[in-house]
Order: sequence, then structure tokens, then C-alpha cells
Amino acid sequence: MKILIVGNGGREHALAWKIAQSPRADRVFVAPGNAGTHTEPGVENVDIPAMDFDRLIKFAKQEAIDLTVVGPEAPLAAGIVDAFQAEKLKVFGPTKAAAELEGSKVFCKNLLRHADVPTADFKVFRKSEDALHYVNHREETPLVIKASGLAAGKGVIVCQNRVEAREAVQQIMDDRAFGEAGDQLVVEECLRGQELSVLAITDGRTILPLEPAQDHKPAYEGDQGPNTGGMGAYTPVPQFSDDLLDKVESDILVPVVHAMKRQRRPFRGILYAGLMLTQQGPKVLEFNVRFGDPECQPLLMRLKTDLVDLFEAVVDQRLDEIGPLEWDPRPSVCVVMASEGYPGEYKKGHPIRGLDEAAEVPQVKVFHAGTAISNDLVVNNGGRVLGVTALGDSLPSAKLQAYRAVKMIRWPGAWCRKDISDKALSDS
Ligand code: AMP
Ligand code: GLY
Repeated sequence: MKILIVGNGGREHALAWKIAQSPRADRVFVAPGNAGTHTEPGVENVDIPAMDFDRLIKFAKQEAIDLTVVGPEAPLAAGIVDAFQAEKLKVFGPTKAAAELEGSKVFCKNLLRHADVPTADFKVFRKSEDALHYVNHREETPLVIKASGLAAGKGVIVCQNRVEAREAVQQIMDDRAFGEAGDQLVVEECLRGQELSVLAITDGRTILPLEPAQDHKPAYEGDQGPNTGGMGAYTPVPQFSDDLLDKVESDILVPVVHAMKRQRRPFRGILYAGLMLTQQGPKVLEFNVRFGDPECQPLLMRLKTDLVDLFEAVVDQRLDEIGPLEWDPRPSVCVVMASEGYPGEYKKGHPIRGLDEAAEVPQVKVFHAGTAISNDLVVNNGGRVLGVTALGDSLPSAKLQAYRAVKMIRWPGAWCRKDISDKALSDS
């Protein structure tokens, strides 16, 4: 089979690496890919941006691509799956209508409310004066203010008091900090607890949950500093029991998949529940409609089931024929190495040294995210640059192994969080 992966991040490198291992994959293309997918054995980059659907479709037809897998949310929300389907091309991912679950927080929250799925209490606003009035007349408590649309993970502001909440409303609705993503606003109650990511693969009928993973969104150790796209992740999550996973499946995943079907937006693809483990049980923070980045990297290190079989079964709506997912029992830890200044401004183009040495560390795979090739050298080309991912017999040994490899990699200003997976260790 010929398979095309759309995207250029760490998630797409992990998808390409895993798919290239499938005995069913003859050729694997990534559009546009990064330096990691460029050098990955059995994988070829194609110089077409993820949002250029016309050229992607043309390429898929010319090359007789058998299956296209879409990594990021932006092309999904813009209807890449509908565009491929209209040309009778097989594509893995939700349609534009189904991707609204991530693309519109208002849509998602209303669906959760109607389906009786546990989530933070919320109110929706279309005008800043109404939102300000509400904030001013509420008791003084922490509040979370969210732009409804896609804002690359930045449109959520956790506010400790009324002053911060007012500023957040103004930033989103009056200053239009996130453009039209801020046309509608969600104000919600602030939930407390540990965050978890439960991803599931579904064809709209059968739901196969993946093992739980935990991301690290704040930039610095101890969950301090500004939010990022995710500074590291690990799986499994020992503080998350099997009973709890069953509860997430029955109380959250199943009702959401059914509600989407009832709304005539059947969901096919990866359904990602971002959860807060509160004292009243797990509650939904958000839904994403694709693999998490970086959660995808440690999850795919452990997944043994053939990804091509899985994705094809979803596209053909016969996921019920695939047995339970098979996992490597060993835990996996992914540490993100970032550019100096991220999540703010940063400089690109620094050559990255030590990648060959890091690749020699046993049970380690260095996934590239924001990298490019310049003058035959691998250089940093984004905020999150690498996802150094390791397997180990225990979480501490996976962590040790990942950081061993991290130490060998250097470029000016490179940094990472030093405490990825520690929340599991302190609780277990
Ligand atoms: P989201 O994009 O909705 O997942 O929000 C990004 C991050 O903001 C989450 O990963 C949480 O850390 C935080 N967050 C979102 N909603 C809430 C909430 N209701 N209570 C506390 N933290 C939240
Ligand atoms: N890791 C968080 C996300 O992919 O949205």
C-alpha cells in the first residue's frame, strides 16, 4: 500500500515511523514532514503544505495513494476529509462537521450538556459586555475563559480573580487576540485535579480506547509558567485505575460517540478526551479530534497492533473485526526539547548536534517536531523541536533513558522540563 500522512510535527513523525513498520506499507509519504521524516527509513517527504487540499488531492491521485492519514486539527476543521472523500480517496480522520467537536468549544460544551457527560459548568457569550457583566456579578472565584474557536492551544485563560477574568474577556473579544476564534466565548468553572488524556479510536460504532497518557502543558517544572502545546508525556498512567478507564468509556466516550451519531455527524478517527480527575470523578476539559502531540509519541512506542489495519478498519467501518489493541507492557516517556524563548518568540536555524549519539541509546527513539534541513544540517525550525521518547521496564527507567538521550543533544538555547512523569512517581 501507498500511504500519505499530512502534517509536520512530532505526532506525524511518530505516525510515519510506526506506519513504515507495517508489513502492509510499501511507500510512506509525509506532506510536508520535517527533518525527522526526511531521514526516516522507508519514509519520503512531499513538499505540499497541510492546508493545500487541491495539491494534496492531486498528489494522492497521481501516486495512487491507498490511504491518507491526517495528523493536525487545522486541516480536519477546514474539511480535508470531506474534500478527499468527494474525490473517492480513502482518508482517516473526522469530517468537517465531526471536527467541530474540537473546532468549536461552544458546540462541544452544548453536546456534553445534552448528553449528560460530566464537564465544568459553563456559560456561552457572543458579546463582551454580557460576558463582563456576568464576570462582575459572580462570586469572586477562579474562572476559565475560553475562545470558542481554534487558537493553537492558546485560547484558554485560567483566571484567579475578577480582574484577570475581565482582562481575558477583553483580550479575546475586544482585542481579538485569537481573531474569529473569539467570536464566541465560554466562561467555565475552574476544575482541580490531575489532567489526563484518554484517546480512543472509533469508526462511529465500535470504540477502542487507547492506554491513558498524561501530558505536561505548562512550560516549566512543577507545572509553572505559560501553557504550551505540551512539554512531554508518558503512558500508562499508574494513578489512573482500570475501573476509572471503564468509567471514562461508559460515561464519556460512549455517550459522545452516540450523540455525534444522533446529530448526523458520525465521528470516525481519533477521539481525544482531555480530562480533569476531580474529587467527583473524571470531567471533560475538552475534546480533540486527532492524536495528541506529544501523547502520540509514547503511545505509538507501545502500541503493537498494526496501525494500517486499524486505520483501514475505521475508514471501512469494520473496527468491530479488530480484536483488542495490543500493547508493549513497558511504560514510555517522551521529553520535549524546545527552542529558547518558546512558547514566546524564538530563533530558528541553529544546527542540532548529537542526534546520532542519542539514536544509539537503547530503547530510545528521537521524534522530530520543529526541525528542517539547511545546508545538509538538521536545524531547529519550530518551538517544540524534538520528542525524545524511551521505553523502560518501569517508569523511572524509561524516564532515565529518555533524559540520557536528551543530554547528548545540543543546540544554542535548547531546553526541556526535567520532571516529565514525576506526577506518576510521586503518586505511586
Ligand atoms: P483546553 O484547550 O480546553 O484543554 O484547555 C487548555 C488547558 O487549560 C487545559 O489543559 C487545562 O490545563 C486548562 N483548563 C481548561 N479548562 C479548565 C477548567 N475548566 N478548569 C481548570 N483548568 C482548565
Ligand atoms: N497534547 C495536547 C494536544 O495535542 O492538544
